[in-house]
Amino acid sequence: MTDSASDLLARIRVHGAVPRHIAIIMDGNGRWARERHMPRPFGHRSGMKAVRETVEACLEAGVEWLSLFAFSQENWQRPETEVSALMALLEEYIAREAAELRAQGVCVHVHGDLSRLSPAAASAVERVRRETSGGQRLGLNLFISYGGRAELVRAARLLAADLESGALRAEDIDEQTIASRLYTAGCPDPDLLIRTSGEQRLSNFLLWQVAYAELYISSVLWPDFDRAALYEAICDFQRRDRRFGRVST
Ligand code: IPE
Ligand code: IPE
Ligand code: MG
Repeated sequence: MTDSASDLLARIRVHGAVPRHIAIIMDGNGRWARERHMPRPFGHRSGMKAVRETVEACLEAGVEWLSLFAFSQENWQRPETEVSALMALLEEYIAREAAELRAQGVCVHVHGDLSRLSPAAASAVERVRRETSGGQRLGLNLFISYGGRAELVRAARLLAADLESGALRAEDIDEQTIASRLYTAGCPDPDLLIRTSGEQRLSNFLLWQVAYAELYISSVLWPDFDRAALYEAICDFQRRDRRFGRVST
């Protein structure tokens, strides 16, 4: 760990309030590769190290949940070569990291329209879920083939089926009824949403869940994101005044 990362962690500990759930839109791999005159998949591969560091940094800081946007529903529209490189990296990440994640006490959840994954990618997903299912220290949500609106459509269909079967009445529908039909059921909403590479948009990520998340835009491109960058974001979060519509105390 670099000095600056450990200084930042010490500062975070003095302050105390660590976000329970951090969500990250991992962006900028393509630009990182382009800066090096390399093809885009080189940037994606380099981004794996940043994932590992971020998971470790969350474990050290005591974050309970980490949600990573790895591949959006819209990303299927990228060139075939890039999509297959990303899917191959997903399989490689799981093959390389599953045992370590399990040893670290990480429980991996994978969310999205997994019916679109290749059989090999789908079986890697099943494997990491199975092997890490007992993890108690950190819940790691990987969003793959995911779109926030598609998640809401799916929840609406689940609700409609419960209405049709008589298991639910329209007047019983409240925010909790909807939240419990999202992929993130049982997981607290993100307190902090980080997007790397300077882009200032949600790109269809966790539309319902980020209602009151603190937003943090980092100019760092994802492959360069590290412990210190995560701790900077947490320090910034600790200076925010979260009012939830009330008056500050
Ligand atoms: C993020 O990096 C990774 C995915 C979206 C899969 P990008 O591939 O979007 O990189 P940029 O935004 O083109 O630099
Ligand atoms: C969002 O990044 C999706 C992921 C990080 C997986 P994109 O690079 O796909 O988003 P846009 O196209 O810039 O909005
Ligand atoms: Mg991008």
